[in-house]
Amino acid sequence: MKSYRIASIPGDGIGNEVIPAGEDVLAALAAKEGFDLKFESFDWSSARYKKTGAYIPEGGLERLRTFDAILFGAVGAPDVPDHVSLWGLRLPICQGFDQYANVRPSRVLPGITSPLDQGKKIDWVIVRENTEGEYSGSGGRVHTGLPDEIATETSVFTRKGVERVHRFAFQLAQKRKRKHLTLVTKSNAQRHGMVLWDEIFFEVAKKFPDVKTDRILVDAMTTRMVLKPESIDTVVASNLHADILSDLAAALSGSLGIAPTANLNPERTFPSMFEPIHGSAFDITGKGVANPIATFWTASMMLEHLGEANAAARLMKAIEAVTAKKVFTPDLGGTARTADVTRAVIAAL
Ligand code: NAI
Ligand code: MG
Repeated sequence: MKSYRIASIPGDGIGNEVIPAGEDVLAALAAKEGFDLKFESFDWSSARYKKTGAYIPEGGLERLRTFDAILFGAVGAPDVPDHVSLWGLRLPICQGFDQYANVRPSRVLPGITSPLDQGKKIDWVIVRENTEGEYSGSGGRVHTGLPDEIATETSVFTRKGVERVHRFAFQLAQKRKRKHLTLVTKSNAQRHGMVLWDEIFFEVAKKFPDVKTDRILVDAMTTRMVLKPESIDTVVASNLHADILSDLAAALSGSLGIAPTANLNPERTFPSMFEPIHGSAFDITGKGVANPIATFWTASMMLEHLGEANAAARLMKAIEAVTAKKVFTPDLGGTARTADVTRAVIAAL
């Protein structure tokens, strides 16, 4: 029997509610599909940081590296600055494991109503550059607290980093029915890094003559997503731009609570990490009403990556059967609880 070792990092807030739900669904599915998933849970979280001073213990990444995949919840606590939590846990994994392709699909699942009339026409995949750009961490502060204080936040675009994410996006677009890839940019105002970003896109495009392309400034992209959703298929955008656009995409497809993501290391030198795109959601933590669909969809992406395509498709079908029946948590306008949705998906499997 095939067996996979999964590192599970629930993290903070509702991560501790949706990740166990995801493990339950995955365990039920694995039993039915005849493979084995061995979960190992890691307590890497803000609670751990407050107790020990570190999110990731010494040697932690080396240990994490031995797993087949990582299932991640969220990180962020009301009493820890967000830049400390993000840089303490999530970014060291994405950057350390070279998970440069962040894949974020959006679809309006059966039964769910999009705030757009044309919601049914949303079928997008956003590819986010995940290791450099605006979130490279380059910069600093000088004269701290003084009237002449300066802070810089430098976007870093490398030929290698840009080329590999564009190539990945083209390969993904090529596999989709419409074979259309939109380049999101801001090279009018950002005249160095973003110009390189655009130039390399069109260099890579020459190797994919069957993929149709277009280019749009990020501000115009927000209006296009709302007004002409059907004109979009696959999208490639920088770390910051795609971060923002994908929350919009999630809302337009019904809720932040359903949107999944895969942080991929396509070369498989390191394990890839799968997570819902939402955060810790302080406002609903502990209430048992977090929507677990984002985590389930994420789990399906994880199975796809592990090579269990049938199981991935079966899970997606079960999710869609449950949304079609409108077993909805409050974010989707329902009264179901996390546990109700979880039970319903397991039954649908
Ligand atoms: P958030 O995603 O936690 O919440 C935004 C809104 O969406 C809230 O009203 C929340 O209740 C709702 N929501 C999110 N997920 C939901 C779900 N599964 N079911 C139902 N409703 C859901 O974003 P926010 O409030 O900006 O950030 C809270 C904390 O999470 C911060 O510390 C932030 O840094 C962190 N964060 C962490 C992320 C990660 O670990 N990947 C991603 C985004 C935020
Ligand atoms: Mg985000």
